[in-house]
Amino acid sequence: MKKTVLSGIQPSGVIHIGNYLGAISQWALYQNKYRNIFCVVDLHAITTPQDPKSLREKTYEVAAIYLAAGLDPKKSIIFVQSHVPAHSELAWIITTISKMGELSRMTQFKDKTTKLRRESIPTGLFIYPTLMAADILLYQANLVPVGEDQKQHVELARDLSQRFNQRFGKTFIVPEPLIRKSGARIMGLDNPEQKMSKSATREMNYIALTDKPATIRKKIIKAVTDSGTAVKFDPKRKGLHNLLTIYKLFSGQSETQIEQHFRGQGYGALKKDLAELIIKKLAPIQKKIAYYMQNKHLLDRILANGAKRADKIAQATLKEVKQKLGLVL
Ligand code: ADP
Ligand code: TRP
Repeated sequence: MKKTVLSGIQPSGVIHIGNYLGAISQWALYQNKYRNIFCVVDLHAITTPQDPKSLREKTYEVAAIYLAAGLDPKKSIIFVQSHVPAHSELAWIITTISKMGELSRMTQFKDKTTKLRRESIPTGLFIYPTLMAADILLYQANLVPVGEDQKQHVELARDLSQRFNQRFGKTFIVPEPLIRKSGARIMGLDNPEQKMSKSATREMNYIALTDKPATIRKKIIKAVTDSGTAVKFDPKRKGLHNLLTIYKLFSGQSETQIEQHFRGQGYGALKKDLAELIIKKLAPIQKKIAYYMQNKHLLDRILANGAKRADKIAQATLKEVKQKLGLVL
């Protein structure tokens, strides 16, 4: 039996090269080895206010990005979370075994609510991790490939899985996070102390997967670096290290090869070459994204087929859960 891999991205904000290098491009590599399930987590996106028109468009865009980045619907189940009602059903059941204390300790929840008064914190944002646990447990996923920032949520899913199993008998697999070593945390171009983020308000923070060549050149040239000159992989020179990491991941070259290539040249040469490399690597992906966005009927067909396959697996788990709980079927 192949192990099951499951992950998802929210259709909100701007999908950037951090999401691509840290998450999506990795998923494509596992496709032959594992049973793969990738969803567009629209029900997570509505935990913060969304404009209905852009939510719909973004949902298609994330699906198009999955396909353009190499996820193959013949090898992977690709679907939209809200198309499979079992996610909401299991999320409610999992919420009933979760505790206020553990949910209050989630750092993403704390980060997203620092500026809000307690009275006005949306409940959906609070129980967001129980929905994510349901996504994972429904498919008996063994591995959950995510960036560093989601590790705590996967650990909570482990705890909830074990708690359910202890109370009601072995039902769920206990999942593990799968986090890549290099590229798990691409940093912001305008501030290499913080990660590149979808919800960044400044456009200079990220390179969107859909950025045009002129924009990419401008953002890379302006990327924050120190006042040094030698191009070397040095984790202490954070801005430079981030640019070199992006270069390494897109080019597939080793650190020594890259340092040799730029020997005797300054940051200017690196930035110029890096911008052209990103433009070259994103071009075929952008072409495919545009193609799918202009042919949404193709996306509809792929997503409907994915939902059908996902639903079958999800229903089997949900039925067992309901039986164990004592719900009359
Ligand atoms: P963001 O954190 O930018 O809002 P999400 O939380 O929706 O984006 O992340 C989607 C996926 O991309 C997750 O697996 C996340 O861990 C990964 N990811 C997000 N930002 C980065 C980054 N800067 N570097 C590497 N991976 C990232
Ligand atoms: N919370 C994840 C994020 O913001 C997205 C997500 C939802 C997810 N459900 C998931 C990731 C299940 C992995 C598995 O990135």
